[in-house]
Amino acid sequence: MAEPTVTDLPAQAPPVCLADFAERARAVLPPDVWDYVAGGSGAEVTLAANRAALDRVAVVPRALRGVETPDLGARLLGRPYAMPVAVAPMAYQRLLHPDGECGLAAAAGAAGVPYLASTLGSTPIEEVAATGAEIWFQLYWLREKALVRDLLARVREAGCRALVVTVDVPVLGRRFRDLRNAFRLPSEVTAVNLPNGRDDLAHSGTPGVSAVPAGATFAPALGWDDLAWLRERVDLPLVVKGVLDPRDAQEAVRVGADAVVVSNHGGRQLDGAPASVRMLPEVVDAVGDRCQVLLDSGIRSGTDVLRALALGAGGVLVGRPLLWALAAGGRAGAASALDLLAGELRDALALAGCPDPAAAGALRTLRVD
Ligand code: FNR
Ligand code: LAC
Repeated sequence: MAEPTVTDLPAQAPPVCLADFAERARAVLPPDVWDYVAGGSGAEVTLAANRAALDRVAVVPRALRGVETPDLGARLLGRPYAMPVAVAPMAYQRLLHPDGECGLAAAAGAAGVPYLASTLGSTPIEEVAATGAEIWFQLYWLREKALVRDLLARVREAGCRALVVTVDVPVLGRRFRDLRNAFRLPSEVTAVNLPNGRDDLAHSGTPGVSAVPAGATFAPALGWDDLAWLRERVDLPLVVKGVLDPRDAQEAVRVGADAVVVSNHGGRQLDGAPASVRMLPEVVDAVGDRCQVLLDSGIRSGTDVLRALALGAGGVLVGRPLLWALAAGGRAGAASALDLLAGELRDALALAGCPDPAAAGALRTLRVD
């Protein structure tokens, strides 16, 4: 029997929500790559809690506010962007599609939102910056300080707009799916921003060993003093990503952070940690107007963005849905996902009677259990 050709397949209706991209990605990705992206740590309790908690946030709309077409524009780190959304930093994007980091960054640039480039990117930071997108560089603190210095010099040279330090990976969470799959990276996908050999482990399929090189490469002893050291040396806005306890948010303010990301790493680190949206109001209270508060982990729609804004966030990071869109359609897929999200946010703001994202901060919310 002849192989089916593309034209034999039923025409796919265009995606109407971000979840539709997941279905398409699952159909094209190798199962172990799907698991690496979709999965969480442990029993995936925190992964599930992120969604459950967002769904329990009810936003009370205002009536007759005369809003027809809300303006989505928002300031993140004091800079104007097209909407209060940024692309979360995610490792090894060439696993998903040959367009990889450049595809997703170009889509972010076209959509007018920041692209957060991971230390574990599979494309040199200089090439990602050449897409013209606004790049915020996400730093995993490396054991060798000289390597951190080298990376920072490249980040500055490449014109990155901010430095995002991820603080919730002292060690990598235990991801059962990856351990069972003996997940490893194909030889052509490497952490090219690190010196040769730093992610060798990621390419060896040893049962029970994770693909991601956190243990060997990252510095688990990172402390707040190191962030103060960084703050003194880097003249870019500083973002601390991976805070849940309001006391840590206060530490971030103390060392001079310009923003914190309330995040549990999409349920990939401490299983049993609370949904990030649950901690958002306390963090907002703890930092006041001393730094901006962003949220990630589970954001899947314009309604979710509205929920975060109503609870006091200045904006959100979106992770997995954009990788799914990249897998499904490369750069164009990622662009259509960001476009869909912007449309959903515009409708959500209009339905809630908000002329812009800033107005959403005055909406009432209820927790519905
Ligand atoms: C991540 N995340 C992440 N975070 C980070 O600071 N540096 C990184 O290199 C990565 N890598 C990474 C890879 C993959 C495949 C995923 C899914 C996630 C975490 C990411 O930035 C973000 O916090 C979560 O993905 C947000 O949750 P959602 O939107 O995916 O639910
Ligand atoms: C992850 C690491 C790389 O979540 O942040 O896979």
